Amino acid sequence: MQPSGQIRYSLAPLAGFTDAAFRRLCSRFGADLTYTEMVSAAGLAHGSRPTRHLMETLPGEGPVACQLFGSNPDELEFSAREVSSLGRFVELNLNAGCPVPKVTREGAGATLVKDPAKVHGLLKAMKRGTDLPVTLKTRPGPKPDKVMLWELLDAAETAGASAIILHARFTSQNHGGEVHLDLLSELVERAKMPVWGNGGVKDAATARAMEATGVAGIMVGRAALANPQIFAALKGENAECDRIETLKDHLAGVIELREALARDFPDDHIPSVDGMCSIQMHTHLFRYFAGRPGAAELRRRLNSIRTLSEILSIIGGQS
Ligand SMILES: Cc1cc2nc3c(=O)[nH]c(=O)nc-3n(C[C@H](O)[C@H](O)[C@H](O)COP(=O)(O)O)c2cc1C
Repeated sequence: MQPSGQIRYSLAPLAGFTDAAFRRLCSRFGADLTYTEMVSAAGLAHGSRPTRHLMETLPGEGPVACQLFGSNPDELEFSAREVSSLGRFVELNLNAGCPVPKVTREGAGATLVKDPAKVHGLLKAMKRGTDLPVTLKTRPGPKPDKVMLWELLDAAETAGASAIILHARFTSQNHGGEVHLDLLSELVERAKMPVWGNGGVKDAATARAMEATGVAGIMVGRAALANPQIFAALKGENAECDRIETLKDHLAGVIELREALARDFPDDHIPSVDGMCSIQMHTHLFRYFAGRPGAAELRRRLNSIRTLSEILSIIGGQS
């Protein structure tokens, strides 16, 4: 691979995956920036404790950005103030692309792709609540015959956003299909602010194709799951590592995250070590073990995991 040496890489926000334990692994393997999963501004504004847990960080993490979703300017301003007062994050990001009904129903996420004026108002509200850079993660439009990107760019620039991250797929495509690099190139040309690209980057070839659009950085999502060393590989660094050793590091991070939550939220119900490991690691484990011999039996065991020792026993059997 021929690394350019210039381009920066970030870990995408992935709900249910990008907790502090996984983010730290990605930072260690070279991610220049990582994102929390989307955090509900309404949840923060209404004092939801589980929402606050999503903003826990761990020592040794690299720079972390916090992503918020919502549709109410007061809640976003409040949340921006709350989040930046933690002193843990380097950037606040507005989610204007998530197609999940739970999010779009409240007028947030992908609903915002159709409403640049609203995006403008929400970014301005966030900026009132923080001195941190505020960025926008969005899509080109709701569907291929309805490109809203130029209005969204204008909304972001006039609101004073610091960067725009484009998941270069339309909302109608969800997370699959063509990544519209032509639109990404045009965005780079038109924008006065840094543009980051996202969508489908999984190896050197896909990274180079996106880099050719002139983006300042590339955000990697699913290809980093069970594969945080992708960041080293994309940078042309030594990415050799044992997947099981990476998994063990990941698990140690989850246990540390549980301790941090129990310390910082003594009045909340934080799951036991067994509960935390089986909940937080469940979906990751399937990915770490994908393609291993005896897949059907492994899947059956992974599906019934309830304790840390069960996880360790499966890891032991695979080492
Ligand atoms: C399981 C899952 C969870 C996601 N959660 C979020 C999220 O919390 N916030 C967000 O902006 N995008 C979210 N996304 C979208 C990703 O950040 C990213 O834009 C998308 O996966 C495309 O990048 P990729 O092709 O590199 O995976 C999620 C995607 C997936 C598959």
